Parts: sequence; structure tokens; C-alpha cells
Amino acid sequence: MAEFTLTVVTSADGYIARATDHPPQAWASAEEQVLFFRDVEAADWVILGRNTHEAAERPDRRRIVFSRTQAGWQRPNQVWVDPRVMTPDDLPALVEHVRPLRHGLILGGTTVHDWFHQNRAIHRVHLTVEPVEFGDGLPIFTGQTLADPLEVFRQAGYRQTDERMLNAAGTRYIEMVPES
Ligand SMILES: NC(=O)c1ccc[n+]([C@@H]2O[C@H](COP(=O)([O-])OP(=O)(O)OC[C@H]3O[C@@H](n4cnc5c(N)ncnc54)[C@H](OP(=O)(O)O)[C@@H]3O)[C@@H](O)[C@H]2O)c1
Repeated sequence: MAEFTLTVVTSADGYIARATDHPPQAWASAEEQVLFFRDVEAADWVILGRNTHEAAERPDRRRIVFSRTQAGWQRPNQVWVDPRVMTPDDLPALVEHVRPLRHGLILGGTTVHDWFHQNRAIHRVHLTVEPVEFGDGLPIFTGQTLADPLEVFRQAGYRQTDERMLNAAGTRYIEMVPES
């Protein structure tokens, strides 16, 4: 069975970006980026929305790209799928011939998070909280009412298993798992 890890960096007030054209490389700490690339390297496949994919094209990476308008293999290692007609259980068979999907990394954005959460397929969360406030932007989950990212995940049914400071500026790294 495939296991999916959600890796996400947020502002202290619970946003993953100010807007669609605001990638984490523009504001996340160097320490977060090290952990992020560690997760990417450890994954068999990363799963991401079309906007996130197009903002950082990497032809060398194995990617499953969500889109409602295109489907199929765009490169030998990159397949586009319409998530409205499938579930997370469908993904391994789709990519098996290229590389078995044992560890999938969920990169976002918001509606990719929603899809995995609604399908109860987020098995682990790697959350980094940067000491910045955006005031407005793209939330972790659609319809988010809380600001504190940790509380957002708690309210969604995840519990903390580990926490540490990544630097003197106050970047926090938290690991979480579903309650059940
Ligand atoms: N802070 C972080 O950890 C983090 C992580 C990831 C991304 N980001 C940032 O977030 C921003 C992009 O996020 P975003 O939310 O705008 O876009 P996104 O999720 O990257 O892309 C949205 C597009 O992907 C497709 N899609 C995604 N989920 C879908 C679903 N459940 N059902 C159907 N289609 C789905 C649709 O494509 P079609 O329009 O083709 O149908 C949708 O328009 C960028 O700034 C990116 O750098 C931050």
C-alpha cells in the first residue's frame, strides 16, 4: 500500500503562499529548504497541482500532476491526472511501470491537500512554520477559519508527534499523524 506524506511550509498565520505566483523558495528559510529537498529525494513520486508544477518545472523529477483539463503522460516520468475521477488507491497502478509508488510526497497546493485529506490518505505531515505573517493568501485547506497552522491540522484530525526549532529566527518544524 502506498503511504503519502504531506510536506508543507506555512506562514505563522496559516498560509502556504501570498498568491499563486509566490513560491516557498521566495520566503522559506534555508533550513526548511534542506528538509524539503530531503523529502523530495526520499519520495518515489511527488504529487502536485498544475500551478505548482508549472511554477517549478523539473523534467528530471517523477511527478503526478493534478489537472481537470489534461490527462496522460506528458513525459516518461510525469503523468497528468484528473483527481475528480480517481482516488489515491488508483495512483500506484498508474505509475507502477515507471517506479512503484510506496512513498508519495504531497506538495500542494490547497486543493491537492483537500483531495488527500478528504480521501483520508495523508499518513504523515511534515509542517514547517516560518516566523512571517502574510495577512492573506492561499490556505492550507479550503475553508480554513483558524490562523495557527498547528491548530488547523489539529482541527482537521491530526496530532503532533515531534517538534523542533530549525533556527534562531524561530522557524518551527512539526511532525504529525492522523488521530486514527
Ligand atoms: N508552502 C508550501 O508548502 C506550498 C506547497 C505547494 C505549493 N505552494 C504554492 O502554492 C501556489 C500554488 O497553489 P495553488 O493552490 O494555486 O495551485 P495548485 O494546487 O498547484 O494548482 C491548482 C490546479 O491544479 C489542479 N488541481 C489541483 N487540485 C485539484 C483537485 N482536487 N481537483 C481538480 N484539479 C485540481 C487544477 O488544474 P486545472 O486548472 O488544470 O484543472 C487547479 O487549477 C504556488 O505559489 C506554490 O508555490 C506552496
